[in-house]
Amino acid sequence: MDNAVDPDGAEMQNAKITGWGKCLPPASLSNDDLAQIVDTSDEWITTRTGIKERRICHVDVSDMAAVAAQHALAAAGLEATDLDLVIVGTCTGDSTIPSTASKVQEIIGATGCAAMDLNAACSGFIYGLVVGTNMIRAGTNSRVLVIGAEKLSYHLNFADRSTCVLFGDGAGAVVLEPADSETGVLATELGLDGTARSLLEIPVSGTQGERRPPDPETAGITMNGPEVFRRAVTTMGDAAVRVVEKSGLTLDDVDLLIPHQANTRIIDATARRLRLDRDKVFINIGSYGNTSAATIPVALAEAIEQDRITPGDVIVFAAFGAGLSWAAATVRWGDRVTPVATSDAALPPTDRTAMELIQPNIDFFGLGAR
Ligand code: UT7
Repeated sequence: MDNAVDPDGAEMQNAKITGWGKCLPPASLSNDDLAQIVDTSDEWITTRTGIKERRICHVDVSDMAAVAAQHALAAAGLEATDLDLVIVGTCTGDSTIPSTASKVQEIIGATGCAAMDLNAACSGFIYGLVVGTNMIRAGTNSRVLVIGAEKLSYHLNFADRSTCVLFGDGAGAVVLEPADSETGVLATELGLDGTARSLLEIPVSGTQGERRPPDPETAGITMNGPEVFRRAVTTMGDAAVRVVEKSGLTLDDVDLLIPHQANTRIIDATARRLRLDRDKVFINIGSYGNTSAATIPVALAEAIEQDRITPGDVIVFAAFGAGLSWAAATVRWGDRVTPVATSDAALPPTDRTAMELIQPNIDFFGLGAR
């Protein structure tokens, strides 16, 4: 998808982000907490990944998604009944049937609108942004809610130090509405290399093969970290540069990079490809770890909260994840960086600690080497 011009050269409607929101569950699991259950250290995790803590969810993915959605709707000044499409980017949904999007639609009261899940793993939010944008460009939909929401903690094997320190839970959401062609999503790129799909997977998590009882040997996330890392540093940077070029802009025009938060070393490599200084890169991986499809919409909401975005800014999103999928987009921000209204939507409180919340995983998978 290049610029908003149809094959006959006529100007097409574009889509811009008019609302934004996030939801992070309250329970926090620190690096020191992890060092009590697996052979790791705050020093290793901080220097190799940039992560200091991650959140552990006490409710369902749909609950986090719905809270983020309610904040995004308030920021846009819309009611849930104004929506005509809900897209939930997730690879850790509540259920296979029905979709997580159906639950979100019910919770927020977006009665009757279309709703679907989209699984592109860590690239899921940008994939959803592209689908939503093109539905608006095609005239099929006009008010689209795009959510990235994950409960990765459910799948974490706390005996595997190479994965359990990386991931966390959370949700972010945006509202897309029609715009003139000067603002909104300018250019995008989506891709995937299915031949490398086994580098990051949950080996048994669907209907593949014969029915079998849950088995800790095959139930958790497995990853060839160094190989995924090697591919992420080149692929994310290349895709980010290409979407800037496709937008008809130069690297000097980029005001802010909001990258997928998997590893600060991958983020730094992507920033170097875009020739951006650190002050033009939004990084919050230290607080939340890798929340897959949720990282970019959460980071976007925090960038706005922290006055890191001003009207007319050129923002680059870039992501890489299981599949192996990748995605990038350039967005020219509109004229509003303050929410139209605010929402008091929040998760139900919990008095359970993160260590208590992960105990069922420890019971199932066992403990790592001390
Ligand atoms: O969002 C989806 C995409 N995912 C990613 O982009 C993640 C990409 N991969 C990475 O970010 C990095 O590969 C990791 C952070 C996962 C690992 O970092 P690394 O620098 O590639 O480390 P490594 O896997 O090569 O391991 C180096 C050493 C090994 O020990 P030996 O063999 O040198 O003795 C590991 O066993 O570090 C060890 N190690 C750890 N040590 C302490 C691995 N995990 C840990 C740990 N704590 N948690």
